[in-house]
Amino acid sequence: MVFGRIGQVGWELRHKLACLGQVAAVEYPEVDFTKADSIRNAVRAAEPSVIVNSAAYTAVDKAESEPELAWAINGTAPGVIAEEAKRLGSILVHYSTDYVFDGSKQGAYVETDAPNPLNVYGKTKLAGDEAIQAVGGDYLILRTSWVYGARGNNFLLTMLRLAKERTELRIVDDQTGGPTSSECIAEATADILAQVLSPAGGGLAGRSGIYNLTCRGETTWFGFAKAFLSKAAGTAAPELIAIPTSEFPRPAQRPANSRLLCQRLEETFGVRLPDWEEALELVLETLAEGASRL
Ligand SMILES: NC(=O)c1ccc[n+]([C@@H]2O[C@H](COP(=O)([O-])OP(=O)(O)OC[C@H]3O[C@@H](n4cnc5c(N)ncnc54)[C@H](OP(=O)(O)O)[C@@H]3O)[C@@H](O)[C@H]2O)c1
Repeated sequence: MVFGRIGQVGWELRHKLACLGQVAAVEYPEVDFTKADSIRNAVRAAEPSVIVNSAAYTAVDKAESEPELAWAINGTAPGVIAEEAKRLGSILVHYSTDYVFDGSKQGAYVETDAPNPLNVYGKTKLAGDEAIQAVGGDYLILRTSWVYGARGNNFLLTMLRLAKERTELRIVDDQTGGPTSSECIAEATADILAQVLSPAGGGLAGRSGIYNLTCRGETTWFGFAKAFLSKAAGTAAPELIAIPTSEFPRPAQRPANSRLLCQRLEETFGVRLPDWEEALELVLETLAEGASRL
């Protein structure tokens, strides 16, 4: 069962999980995460062996002015899903975020580092992680960052659109992280599930927990934009100007360091995502392919 069917990750999950079995994918308002009964009824009707929750309140800045809604969807709903998963003996896969950290660490964050979110979105996502951990059962919390893809709301598509409208783009160059394609996240999720569901896989036995899951390498938002605008802008590429975060004030504060070390995932499941540049190439190919068909 996939929650968040038309979200960036949910969309890809439907395609990648199809080979593993029948997938029941649901979307708001069919299931409303602000209503516990809505979640419980959907899970009880489907009785899935695996629940993958990619639904979330992801509007980071808007969350500052809608904290109750963000808390309900990100903080409370995951605990309800975890309870239902545990009741059925199902595996729960849930996604968390680099924004649970304050970004003050030197070097990449590991799963055991203490969270200290700077914004409402990060606080609500952390509450969701903690709610799942408190329920227990068989679960994976996959912590990812800077999600983008060929569809949905994301930095890459926003910048590609702005590049057509403007001659100059000012982009933050002092936040570092790992851009991670929605396709890579879904593919890695499917790989892990294929392993644990295989006859010899032994389920999650002793492997429940948090795992960082990002593409390899790191860059800044400016570096990321430069990498795709130089390849994809097509006509006259706009001038790119690197700016500090202080010159682009937004309602929600962001961590300066969003790097996540994915060693635990690799050691436990043998899953290793590609470098972010390589994943970007694939997404740009998908976009170019789509455009050429129009
Ligand atoms: N995006 C990022 O940069 C990023 C970074 C780190 C971690 N993550 C995490 O990765 C996961 C997937 O993110 P994403 O980028 O794929 O998210 P997304 O594209 O924003 O999709 C989120 C999904 O949740 C659904 N949703 C919103 N409100 C709901 C409600 N009340 N009840 C049920 N469903 C509701 C949305 O439906 P509607 O479209 O109808 O609103 C949408 O399908 C999330 O857990 C997110 O926190 C994302």
